[in-house]
Amino acid sequence: MKGLDGKTCLITGGAGSIGMATARLFLEHGARVMIVDLDQAVVDAAVAALAHPHASGVAADVGDAVQTQRFVEATVERFDKIDVVFANAGIFGSVAPVTDYPDDVFDRVMRVAVRGSFLTCKHAIPHMRDGGSIVLMSSVMGLMADPGVAAYAVSKHAVVGLMRVLAKELAPRHIRVNTIHPGPVANAFQTSIERSLDTVLNTDATAFLDNVIPLHRHADPVEVANGVLYLSSSMSSFVTGTSLPVDGGMRG
Ligand SMILES: NC(=O)c1ccc[n+]([C@@H]2O[C@H](COP(=O)([O-])OP(=O)(O)OC[C@H]3O[C@@H](n4cnc5c(N)ncnc54)[C@H](O)[C@@H]3O)[C@@H](O)[C@H]2O)c1
Repeated sequence: MKGLDGKTCLITGGAGSIGMATARLFLEHGARVMIVDLDQAVVDAAVAALAHPHASGVAADVGDAVQTQRFVEATVERFDKIDVVFANAGIFGSVAPVTDYPDDVFDRVMRVAVRGSFLTCKHAIPHMRDGGSIVLMSSVMGLMADPGVAAYAVSKHAVVGLMRVLAKELAPRHIRVNTIHPGPVANAFQTSIERSLDTVLNTDATAFLDNVIPLHRHADPVEVANGVLYLSSSMSSFVTGTSLPVDGGMRG
């Protein structure tokens, strides 16, 4: 028996790097996967790339309440009740000290990670089977912080608060809720952040981070997906209300 046999799994930001790595892994483990992302053409291409009869997708903005309700309904219509929610959609924002940080960028970052995770959970929970699992995407920046990343660090700390509330609210239904905290991942999202940090650090940010991370490298997206699979499956059946770092030891 596979870890997610017949389970319906909803992944927001599902067409992105970690979202796709997780979708692939979930499908390998027997799941039925609905990916949600902003753009219909991108979602269609992602579903085509997954090339699996149990992969489906829908375009939606997780910051929009009506669109969130619609993608939850689309998931239930396509696959029946939801077992696993991976609220993964996120954007980085800018690099600037708080005194210079643009208000509109701050609002956009919070809208996707915080409001988006809140709305996804709010609308998915009534359609979840008892005994399911919710994984909220945070970051190593949800456990520590560095200068210049106010919106990102605040948003990633905030989802930990949401996780703690939900873990207690949903325990009577045996729905477990946890956050995952990747360190720098070798993908386009992180490369773009590192190129903005080059000038701030006055050095190559990729090499700088590899030096700071005790395991001396970035994560592969699959290594993050492995953590999500653990938190989503019965392998973590007594784990709720907790934060799982997948960061090569960076936060220590
Ligand atoms: N890459 C890293 O190093 C790293 C480290 C820690 C945490 N994270 C987090 O992992 C998550 C996934 O990041 P990734 O590295 O796969 O980057 P990515 O950019 O490849 O994936 C993010 C996805 O979210 C989607 N998205 C953005 N706004 C959305 C919205 N309003 N509604 C629906 N979808 C939306 C994007 O279109 C994209 O496909 C993010 O929350 C990110 O903050 C990434």
